[in-house]
Amino acid sequence: MRTIDRSRLHDLMEREQSTFRERTPRSAALAEDAKASLLFGVPMNWMTRWPGEYPVFVEKAEGARFWDVDANEYVDFCLGDTGGMAGHAPKLSVEAIAHQAARGITLMLPTEDAAWVGREMARRFGLPYWNFTLTATDANRFAIRWARQVTGRPKVVVHNWCYHGSVDESIATLDDSGRTVSREGNLGPPVPLDVTTKVVEINDLDGLERALAEGDVAICMFEPALTNIGIVLPDRGYHEAVRELCTKYGTLLLIDETHTISAGPGGCTKAWGLQPDIVTIGKTLGAGIPSAAYGMTQELSDRVLANTDWKNADVGGVGGTLAGNALSLAAMRATLGEVMTDEAFERMIALGERFEQGVRDVMESRELPWHVVRLGCRVEYLFRPDRARNGAEAAAGQDEEVETFIHLYLLNRGILMTPFHNMALMSPATTAEDVDLHTEVYAQMADELTGA
Ligand SMILES: Cc1ncc(COP(=O)(O)O)c(C=O)c1O
Repeated sequence: MRTIDRSRLHDLMEREQSTFRERTPRSAALAEDAKASLLFGVPMNWMTRWPGEYPVFVEKAEGARFWDVDANEYVDFCLGDTGGMAGHAPKLSVEAIAHQAARGITLMLPTEDAAWVGREMARRFGLPYWNFTLTATDANRFAIRWARQVTGRPKVVVHNWCYHGSVDESIATLDDSGRTVSREGNLGPPVPLDVTTKVVEINDLDGLERALAEGDVAICMFEPALTNIGIVLPDRGYHEAVRELCTKYGTLLLIDETHTISAGPGGCTKAWGLQPDIVTIGKTLGAGIPSAAYGMTQELSDRVLANTDWKNADVGGVGGTLAGNALSLAAMRATLGEVMTDEAFERMIALGERFEQGVRDVMESRELPWHVVRLGCRVEYLFRPDRARNGAEAAAGQDEEVETFIHLYLLNRGILMTPFHNMALMSPATTAEDVDLHTEVYAQMADELTGA
């Protein structure tokens, strides 16, 4: 297998940086202007993570494509890191959103759409009772609150190198000696992480049992497969064993499907027959209109109802004035009902397979020491020869230099990947030609990098 020639990589990177500047003069000017009024020069701090010296500024987006202010066209495999997974501005969602916006956006009262969306979520994920939030972060935060409330226990178990949004309890990792510590970069943690959190590796059932056996864990908050450090798939039988351990030790099991909805219309919960007490999901439900949800079993909902202080329900820590608003519910109804349908997922997953195969062929034919992994319509490449079995292995397989180069190389040729790791997502509007364009440019990149 080849090793990457770092001095060649460095030269290629300089060339790509200058190509980027030449292609994006108007974005450069807007970025300069933004520095005068925006903290970090961007509307949100993580927008500094794009591969060029500044982000491209968007003119418009439609389907699986967008155009920047310099009239460059891009195929978008980032899709707003899942927020735009329904495709940009899907016609049927946009019509429903415009219709509802003209009839009232937020009232603190339900509309007819609410129960429709609840029933659809129940059909997809198999859990009967749902509530809505605006972000997946909030869905997770509220689920944790309910779990603590009904179990009377303080702690949360998460997987090493997980990401569940800006949830305080989850910004933790394992150190080299297996202790739970604050994750590198954790900003102003409110309490030391080991007070609230225990971290275990995905696929480490002994470690999980040790964590649960102490009897102080309210809830395990897990993605069914890690998706935020590349994709790390569970071993066969892992989830059945997790369920058994949670039941044995009286701990609730939360499955966060925010990204793993890529596995199918009901996420991994449906595709793999998982049995969580709580499902959380956000990002894509409303085609980009802030929409998220958490659902629970009959048994847990009975405990939640018994533990609800009705008089103080609005100030108890599960809130959000705009949550469950009319616009968000109309967006979810149209998007789930008309855009992110069961049939759409079949096409998206087939495109994911095509993307995976294209990348694998390039890696094998160029003898690159990398691999590609897929979860439904979500594909990732990682810079180690074989699949990672846990978060630490996946973290060790990151290569920031190579990653930034690939992202910029693709961007300069009209392809957008997520700025964090190497994720590509298929939307209902993505085509086989879009996928083949990526394969072609990826092969070209591999040839240049290996000097072929
Ligand atoms: C698995 C998972 N859950 C929750 C979130 C939080 O989503 P949001 O930032 O929209 O609250 C993310 C964000 O990337 C995520 O990957």
